[in-house]
Amino acid sequence: MKLPDTARWALTHGLIRLVLRRETRKGNLNSRFLTDREVQLNPYPHYETLRDDRPFAPGLAGKVTVHHAVGTEVLRAEGFGTASFGGAPRPIRRVLAAAASGRARSVIEPPSMLAVDPPDHSRYRKLVTRAFTAKAVKALRERTEEVAAELLDGIDGSREPVDLVSGYAAQLPVIVICEILGAPTSMREQFLTWGDAAATSLDPGMSRQRFLQAQQGIDALLDWMRGHFDALRRNPGNDILSELVTTADTDGQRLTETELLATALLVLAAGFETTVNLIGNGIALLQEHPEQRALLAEQPALWPNAVDEMLRFDSPVQRTARRALHDTEISGVPVRREELVIILLGAANRDPKVFDDPNRFDVTRRGAGKHLAFSSGIHYCLGAALAKMEGEVALRALYQRFPDLTLVGEPHRRPTSNLRGFDRMTATLTPTSRESGVSRGRPGGRSGPGWPSAARS
Ligand code: HEM
Repeated sequence: MKLPDTARWALTHGLIRLVLRRETRKGNLNSRFLTDREVQLNPYPHYETLRDDRPFAPGLAGKVTVHHAVGTEVLRAEGFGTASFGGAPRPIRRVLAAAASGRARSVIEPPSMLAVDPPDHSRYRKLVTRAFTAKAVKALRERTEEVAAELLDGIDGSREPVDLVSGYAAQLPVIVICEILGAPTSMREQFLTWGDAAATSLDPGMSRQRFLQAQQGIDALLDWMRGHFDALRRNPGNDILSELVTTADTDGQRLTETELLATALLVLAAGFETTVNLIGNGIALLQEHPEQRALLAEQPALWPNAVDEMLRFDSPVQRTARRALHDTEISGVPVRREELVIILLGAANRDPKVFDDPNRFDVTRRGAGKHLAFSSGIHYCLGAALAKMEGEVALRALYQRFPDLTLVGEPHRRPTSNLRGFDRMTATLTPTSRESGVSRGRPGGRSGPGWPSAARS
């Protein structure tokens, strides 16, 4: 069954949009998270209004939790599955699933790994896990340091203030994920444009215009991917996408073309649409907390912990959802089959039962890594180790190279509410080390001819 995009929008976002508008007018806080720009800019005080002894607060379409323990329990429980198609009720999901069958048109709809339960989930995930293990990521660190150094070389901070998002924070993750997957880095600006449009589709209740724009972005990425797959079939390389198209066969169960496209699309888009926010949020936090920045300059060994603290304190993904597969119970509260549970990851990461003085940003915090920024359970972020390594390398190299970096004016938040980050961040850099003739702190200290040029390709 083919459903026009406008009908898909009406069934997924349009209906929710009507409810959200009505509830926002009534002052419902849960709908304000999604509709009120002021709340989106700083959701944390609002999360606190939901925090009491009850495991769940009532939400618009189900239950909502701000508690770390409750969120973890739901995310790890076998009795819960993914909440695909924007959490729509079952009859609508059936129509949408029939319409989506044979097509991969969203990262949050089947057959995207994010939107399916086992056994399909295990089948898809198994195909790409190898590229993202701790060992694989360790091997990528040096190359990531080279990419960071090369990007920094390209920034002339001596004259005008520069935009650190478009010039740096967005570039590093897209180059790295392209290299991992074997996608051309020369396409990265195009990927970023398509991906930015697609990122909005993670917010329920978006306008018809934004939905259609998001769809255009995803369709363009898919078209490119189809062509690229054809080329790889004819002439496979030594990369993950080549491996996907030539040996996409786990335990004898070959993936369909749609499953292949959905898997590749998700890994590519997740690879660059999220880490940019970690890097941007980190820069903003260090600007607001100069004493923490000074600590990192004195004790660079604190960087890995600092990145966990950034992920905890201002999480790039603010929420996720699950649907009960059968009647069950969480923290003593009955949850009915089909009921939706929203886990506010950003709020769970400020749970005082887990984090002392949770509203304090502290790069030396013990147990900072207990955050749920990468979720938990079987959908735990596939790219978590990669994202942490990229965040650490990118931020460390940036401050080493430009120790006087100062943001000019307020950085600008992205218009998305689930993906939380900045889309513009102007800074003066004052490259003091260049003037003093001292090595510019390039990680690994390499330079000169033969320097890999992927960052400029
Ligand atoms: C700071 C950066 C990142 C954050 C905060 C983040 C966050 C998340 C979260 C919260 C989930 C789980 C959603 C849920 O439980 O419903 C997830 C899943 C996923 N992430 Fe990430 N992510 C980041 C970077 C990356 C990178 C670099 C990749 C590249 C491979 C990636 C690939 C994925 C994939 C493929 C999934 C789906 C896993 C599954 O369903 O089994 N992520 N991510």
